[in-house]
Parts: sequence; structure tokens; C-alpha cells
Amino acid sequence: MQAIDTLATPDDAAAKAKANTLLSPRFYTTDYAELDRLDVSAIRAEWDTMMAEYEGDNNHDHFQRTPEFAQEVAERFSQVSPELRKEFLDFLITSVTSEFSGCVLYNDIQKNVSNPDIKALMRFMARDESRHAGFINQSLKDFGLGLDLGGLKRTKAYTYFKPKYIYYATYLSEKIGYARYITIFRQLERHPDKRFHPIFRWFERWCNDEFRHGESFALLMRAHPELLRGRNVLWIRFFLLAVYATMYVRDHTRPMLHQAMGLESTDYDYRVFAICNEISKQVFPVSLDIDHPAFRAGMDRLYRLQLRIDAAKAAGGVMGKLRQGALYAAAGATFARLYLLPVRRHALPAQVRMAPAW
Ligand SMILES: [Fe+2]
Ligand SMILES: [Fe+2]
Repeated sequence: MQAIDTLATPDDAAAKAKANTLLSPRFYTTDYAELDRLDVSAIRAEWDTMMAEYEGDNNHDHFQRTPEFAQEVAERFSQVSPELRKEFLDFLITSVTSEFSGCVLYNDIQKNVSNPDIKALMRFMARDESRHAGFINQSLKDFGLGLDLGGLKRTKAYTYFKPKYIYYATYLSEKIGYARYITIFRQLERHPDKRFHPIFRWFERWCNDEFRHGESFALLMRAHPELLRGRNVLWIRFFLLAVYATMYVRDHTRPMLHQAMGLESTDYDYRVFAICNEISKQVFPVSLDIDHPAFRAGMDRLYRLQLRIDAAKAAGGVMGKLRQGALYAAAGATFARLYLLPVRRHALPAQVRMAPAW
């Protein structure tokens, strides 16, 4: 987790966004020439329907603040406890970083390919992510914590991922992003008294963008079925677990945020995993058995190890370093045991695309 405990100044916010830890959102580069060779002809009809939706841009007017926005922040958010305030700001910073990470990646791909299908898709997705990042950043600016996104693009370290890792990881992060936003939106729709910040009102139409971004990667992968067979299934299992485990550990460090919405972190996370498991059957031939008692125990152990890693980091010194090493090894072993648990297998549907029905 972050060593930065306070979020008092724009520098704190910038440092948090820039940090690269196991749990923080990263920026990616990839092999653009390989992306340029993607061929969508096997799924052309579904592709064209999707591109027409991007073209139609039904969210073009959505990411604008209403006059009531500031008033609601003043009336409701000013009432929250300092702990909740900190967790919420932390949530905004990780969210803006991850939205902007998508924007940077899609934009870089768009600039570096000439394949018209891929170029057009990446341009549309970069458009959406830039709106999302900008909208969250406005809320950070309300607290004087706005990020310099251009500066972040220039100074944050980039991680290289092979294209196929980009497909698996980005597909999942889009779909899990949808599941996270819609679960929060539905909860606050039922309990409007718990909507402590107006940004949550925007989540419903917002998450439809994320859903569609996920659909795009589903189509790309289904157009290249070798990505979904043989040894690649082992990679799919790895990314499913990595994405779920990261979310679980990160969410459990922000218990107040969920409590304030009338949710509990474990319950919220398993609802999100269940949605994501259901959706990912459109493309992945396996899903994780999230109800297996050993799965639940392992996820919990990862979180408890993370707390001890944070304590060892805070303690510092040689002993702290040694402890950290031992704890990372224990976390690695726990992850490996989770990875080896049996998975559910399913045949892929003939029609790839799904509706965001949650
Ligand atoms: Fe987004
Ligand atoms: Fe997205």
C-alpha cells in the first residue's frame, strides 16, 4: 500500500498517483506493430454494430457538472468524518489514475497503428477515458488536490506488457470497472440517504462506457481464438486472479468508504466478482470458483499479509526489510495456492456481445 498517509496537498496527491506499487494503477506500453496486425473480419458484423455505438456517442453530454453539484458537495460531503474523507479522496486518486492510464494507453496505440479498425476503436476509447479522468479530477480540484495529468503522463513509469497481456488485463479491468460502478450505483439508488458525494449519480451512464470498452476487447480476443486456448488459458487464470486479488486487498484498506454506502467490503467485492465472472464467460473459457472456501480464505490471507507488510514497511530498518521479504514470500505462496484451485470451465457462446443488464 501507499506510504503516504495524508492527502493534504496537491503534491501528496501527485505522489500517490505517480507511485508504482503492486496495488496501484500503472501506465502501460506495448508492441504496437502486433496490435496493427489484428484482424476483426471473423466478427465483423458485431464489430460494426459496436463502432456505430461509439460513433453515436450517447454519453457526449454526460460528463458535465450540474449547478447542484457544488451545493451537494458543500451540504453532504462537508458532513463526513475525516477518515471517510481520506478514504474517499484516496478512491478518487486511484480512480483518476486508472481512468487516465486507459486514456494514455489507448491514445498511444491510436497514434502508433495504421490499421483503420484498431485506430478508430482506440480513438473512441481514449475519448471516453479522457472524459472520465477529467470528471474525477474536477472533484479532486474541489479539495485543491487536482492532478496535473499531463505531468503524470510524462513522469510516471511505464510498464511494458505484451499485447496478449494487455487484452486479458484491460478486458478485465474494463468489465470489473463496470461491475464496481454499477454495484455502487444500484446500492445508492436504493439508499439515497447514503449518497455522501454527488459523483456517484454519474456512475450509471459512465459504467456503460466501461462495459462497451470491455466488449471491444472481448471481440478482439474472439476474433483471434488462439488467445483463448491451450497455454493461454493459464495466463487467463493468472490475470483473473491478479485482478480480483488486487481489488480485494485494495478495497479492504478502505472499509469506511463501503460502510458509508451501507456496504461491507467483502460482500461488495464478491458481488462484483460474481458479475464479472458472469460477463467474462463471453470470452474466457474458465472462471474462478469464488465460492470455494479455500478461495475465500486465501483472499483474506492476502489482505492480512498486506497489513503486516505495511506494518513492516512502517517499522523500517533491517529487521523491517527482512520481515517484508518473508511476508512477500508468504503472499506469493498464498497466491500460488489460489492459482492452483480448480476453476469452472464453460463453452464460449456463439454471439459474443452482451447487454449491461445489472
Ligand atoms: Fe473509464
Ligand atoms: Fe474504460
